[in-house]
Amino acid sequence: MRIAVVGTGYVGLVTGTCFAEVGIDVTCIDIDEKKIENLKQGVLPIYEPGLEEMVTRNAQKERLSFSTDLASVIRGCGCEAAFIAVGTPPGEDGSADLKYVLAVARQIGRHMSEYLVVVTKSTVPVGTAQKVRQAIEEELEARGVDIPFDVASNPEFLKEGAAIEDFLKPDRIVVGVASERAEKVMKKLYKPFLMNGHPLIFMDIPSAEMTKYAANAMLATKISFMNDIANLCEIMGADVNMVRKGIGSDARIGNKFIYPGIGYGGSCFPKDVKALIRTASENGYQMRVLQSVEEVNERQKSVLYNKIHAHFSGDLSGKTFAVWGLSFKPKTDDMREAPSLVIIRKLLEQGARVKAYDPVAMEEARHALGEAIEYGKDEYEALIDADALLLVTEWPEFRSPNFNVVARLMRDRVVFDGRNIYDGTELREKGFAYYGIGVKQ
Ligand code: UGA
Repeated sequence: MRIAVVGTGYVGLVTGTCFAEVGIDVTCIDIDEKKIENLKQGVLPIYEPGLEEMVTRNAQKERLSFSTDLASVIRGCGCEAAFIAVGTPPGEDGSADLKYVLAVARQIGRHMSEYLVVVTKSTVPVGTAQKVRQAIEEELEARGVDIPFDVASNPEFLKEGAAIEDFLKPDRIVVGVASERAEKVMKKLYKPFLMNGHPLIFMDIPSAEMTKYAANAMLATKISFMNDIANLCEIMGADVNMVRKGIGSDARIGNKFIYPGIGYGGSCFPKDVKALIRTASENGYQMRVLQSVEEVNERQKSVLYNKIHAHFSGDLSGKTFAVWGLSFKPKTDDMREAPSLVIIRKLLEQGARVKAYDPVAMEEARHALGEAIEYGKDEYEALIDADALLLVTEWPEFRSPNFNVVARLMRDRVVFDGRNIYDGTELREKGFAYYGIGVKQ
């Protein structure tokens, strides 16, 4: 079986590589020549654990190739499906800009020569597959040819840092189709991934498009809800860690995604929550729950800073803060909408000095923060002469540091734990002041 994947960003590259891994012949296409040249040399544009090895292995086996020439890949080389996985950057009004998706659809229409299922993989608003169909139809009409094709929507549910595992062993695969022929192709394509008994769920196209947004919006809702509960726990003298365990053991609630923290970030939740609110309001409906989810999340990004401000009685000028973790979550270098940026900028505004360390995101962080902060060689170096430690991203290597060394390196023993990974009682015994989220201070 042969497929094309257009767009070698995060989604496209993971999708193409994982399909190749199970023996499908995949060509990944991108207009960026440098990117394609690099990929041919095994140099990846993103960091994702395990992906580089997988790209190299499948390229060597000649199941995975890279090209800038969409026309010749699509024209008569036996592709059964073409995935569109190009970017949908927010346009001026915040809604997803479909110009790249539709440009690819047009190119496919211009060059296809036999039946093809054109699959949207990028996260796109409800109704996009229909626009893709229209664009292809127009191109075929302009060529004066009548080649059968189908569109399908196949949203991705990959988590950065665990994308390969998520793709190879999915909880579920959702596919929106409008014909039996397309369903057959998609079934054949995904058969190798269904070994664990997880379902391949077929539905109509708008429902598949909506599923993607509803899933992310639900997860974001869980997080904002828990952040709200955490803040209330603090006021009422309750401990959210206990409350979390207490409610999470109810299978209807579940124990995942109920960890309070400093707000969700990344390229997906913030964008998708906003997009769903917008889609609704454009269609005359107010998503009141999601509006609050967003509002709570914005407020939560300042929670750690507010605790710092209160501890130092508002006098942060000249104080030094060690920041552990910069990326929006562990195992990624992604800094998009990272809460660390909000916290650091607020500290800098107050005249504080920031020394940060992140295992992989420091280069990305430099794009956003430049040299306004200092970057440590490791987590301990970042602590030298610090007045406080801020745990911002819960990388595994930050979980059990040697607190005797930590205490020796710091000027003052204060820990602000934005992810509740430390034991406050233990730290207090060691002479630290400890602040968590939703726990007794
Ligand atoms: C998210 C979804 O989890 C994926 O299923 C989806 O495919 C993806 O978006 C997407 O739409 O592409 P991702 O953004 O990689 O994946 O990251 P998550 O692991 O979901 O974390 C998102 C944010 O929520 C992070 O800032 C994390 O720190 C925060 N979070 C997560 C919490 O604050 N508490 C939790 O309990 C869980």
